[in-house]
Amino acid sequence: MSNKEIINRTSPKIRLNTICPYFTMFPLSFPYKALLNAEKEDLVYDPFCGRGTTNYAARLLGIESYGVDSNPVAHAIAQAKLVKVKSKDIVTRCKYILDNFEPYTIPEGDFWKWAYHPETLKNICKLRDYFLSPPNLDNVDIALRAIILGTLHGPKMKSQQSYLSNQMPRTFATKPDYSVSYWRKHKLKPDEVNLLELVNRKSTYIFNKHLPLKTQGKVVLGDSRELKRIINRKFKWVITSPPYYGMSTYEQDQWLRNWFLGGSDKVDYSSSSQVKHWSEKVFINDLSRVWSNTAEKCVPNAKLIIRFGALPSKSEKTPSQLIKESLILADCGWKINTIRSAGEPMPSNRQAVQFKGSTGNYIEEIDVYSTLNV
Ligand SMILES: C[S@@+](CC[C@H](N)C(=O)[O-])C[C@H]1O[C@@H](n2cnc3c(N)ncnc32)[C@H](O)[C@@H]1O
Repeated sequence: MSNKEIINRTSPKIRLNTICPYFTMFPLSFPYKALLNAEKEDLVYDPFCGRGTTNYAARLLGIESYGVDSNPVAHAIAQAKLVKVKSKDIVTRCKYILDNFEPYTIPEGDFWKWAYHPETLKNICKLRDYFLSPPNLDNVDIALRAIILGTLHGPKMKSQQSYLSNQMPRTFATKPDYSVSYWRKHKLKPDEVNLLELVNRKSTYIFNKHLPLKTQGKVVLGDSRELKRIINRKFKWVITSPPYYGMSTYEQDQWLRNWFLGGSDKVDYSSSSQVKHWSEKVFINDLSRVWSNTAEKCVPNAKLIIRFGALPSKSEKTPSQLIKESLILADCGWKINTIRSAGEPMPSNRQAVQFKGSTGNYIEEIDVYSTLNV
């Protein structure tokens, strides 16, 4: 595949990468361009893999890749980036679950009444219970689960039903009280959505015949500050994007998707396995733990490529300073070769853009290129 094709966002090859939005994803072209310099037998790793963009870029190039994220939503989406299944198998599985399962519990209260039509919520709960019950999900389950995560909330469309919820953003879930008062004020009632038909449409679109071949690899739910072993071979490429400093609400913003994966039906504000944003010092320390933990998993001369930014309102240091200090503190051989600006934000596919509405601040995003000198 040529780089030109990848940048074409309409290519059916890259639809799987868009299976579910994630609040702070980087564009596919970023890891893809870096990996054009990789060899087929190299191993790729992303310790903050989010929705698995690095893993998908590696897959497009036929390279084995691994990812870690401590957010269950990111983990579930990223896992789907490595599967290859037939769309008809996804639909058959979904029908089987809807026909054969009864939900153990259906959440109650104002939010749930307004968010989903009762029949739609019942079907969502059947799927939720199913995904929580088997000890091991197979690839069809993983694909179906990611499709449901991607359709769980989003705008009400005039032409055809594309999301299961009442009016909501698709990238993040609004908080319950705010949502209910918004729906009340705008007199927005949830529609009954034909879930099976929606799954059929989505899976045919995403799991199409152009999908790249499956590559080896794995996505792990874990804390990259301390995760010990993923495989017993070493990585040559690490392409990653840590949480931007000051942006500490990854889990809360995904609370509804997190509920679907077995989490609380209320917003949970305790993010114990996320890197901490309490102060620059704590943040730098947490990042340094990830860099040294990662170095142990890499071959000599491995490349570490980081896209990073910081909210100016929260940070006295520049993104470059934060990254440099974290790499120095890690003291494990990462040597910075280049730091450059990630350029002007592009519409909708850049992390910085997502901050603008709330703060009005421009976020400087940087790309850091370093090599493991050991
Ligand atoms: C900027 S996002 C990565 C986005 C990713 N590049 C993508 O394209 O989707 C940062 C990620 O780091 C994850 N994270 C934060 N602390 C972590 C930790 N201690 N271990 C693993 N992942 C962590 C967050 O859950 C979030 O998904």
